[in-house]
Amino acid sequence: MTLDEIAKMIRSCDKCPLSKERTQAVPGDGNPKSRVVFIGEAPGFWEDKEGIPFVGRGGKLLTKKLESIGILRKDVFITNIAKCRPPDNRRPTKEEVALCTPYLNAQLETLAPEIIVPLGATSGEFIFKKYGLTWTGMLKENGVEKRINTIFGEVKIIPVIHPAAVLRNPHRTDMFVDALKKLI
Ligand code: URA
Repeated sequence: MTLDEIAKMIRSCDKCPLSKERTQAVPGDGNPKSRVVFIGEAPGFWEDKEGIPFVGRGGKLLTKKLESIGILRKDVFITNIAKCRPPDNRRPTKEEVALCTPYLNAQLETLAPEIIVPLGATSGEFIFKKYGLTWTGMLKENGVEKRINTIFGEVKIIPVIHPAAVLRNPHRTDMFVDALKKLI
């Protein structure tokens, strides 16, 4: 399947209640040939309006810090665990994650990335479980690289604290940037 075909399925998905409240689904954005895939939790207010992941305050911080280390957002691919905005930006439920992640799995198979960057604990926990790893908590896993074998070859997983958590806790900016630097 191509990324466009997967995106089309996501945009017309009505498998879970989040589809009823969305303005639009947010399949993902960026370079389909990227070696690196960033995976956040779920769209927020602005992502739901614009249909593009990480365009709100957290996304702007991510874009700025990536640029500061020489990575352009257009060169990577960014998506989320849940493709529709949960009300009040709550965490997606287990059921919503279970119904939505076949799309993420399909995207990963198509992208066949060399590096997966889960942003935040929801994404980190999902990716670790998917690849048989034990999640020990965001602050412990931040910037710690794991290598796993997948159907598309060896992949590095580098979890990074979520930019929204950095906005809430500005003293964590250095650990955020240090973790991103593991990509270069
Ligand atoms: N937070 C996320 O996890 N994803 C987005 O797309 C925006 C904010």
